[in-house]
Amino acid sequence: MTILPWTEQYSVDIRKIDNQHKILLDYLNKLYDIILGETENEDIVKIIDDMTIHAISQFRSEEQLMFSTGYPKYSHHKLQHKHLIKQLGDLREKYCSDGSTELVELTNFLKDWLVDHIMGSDKSMGKFLVDYGVY
Ligand SMILES: [Fe+2]
Repeated sequence: MTILPWTEQYSVDIRKIDNQHKILLDYLNKLYDIILGETENEDIVKIIDDMTIHAISQFRSEEQLMFSTGYPKYSHHKLQHKHLIKQLGDLREKYCSDGSTELVELTNFLKDWLVDHIMGSDKSMGKFLVDYGVY
């Protein structure tokens, strides 16, 4: 079951960023499948780590685009990325020491964060970049 499928409503109109968001949501859905017992024998910590590596690389490419185009909300947006990576690291640590309850907390936190961030900050960035001529 896909808890958070990527749909057009999440599009920021920049193909590269949309494709990266799709991968991020795939990781999240994979974690939900594990919680729901639909996937077994998965290395959960590895999925969290792979997802974190992907998020860092996605955030870096967004930040490069924002910086090179002089996006006015660059610093604030970059700070949101930094906080997410920090919180993800903290939750990973909690999960490693605590067990399955924390996986639910981690995935729910991520789901809320991603929807908020994509619908707010990333959409606003996407509009600026499209107006600037990025596609
Ligand atoms: Fe972002």
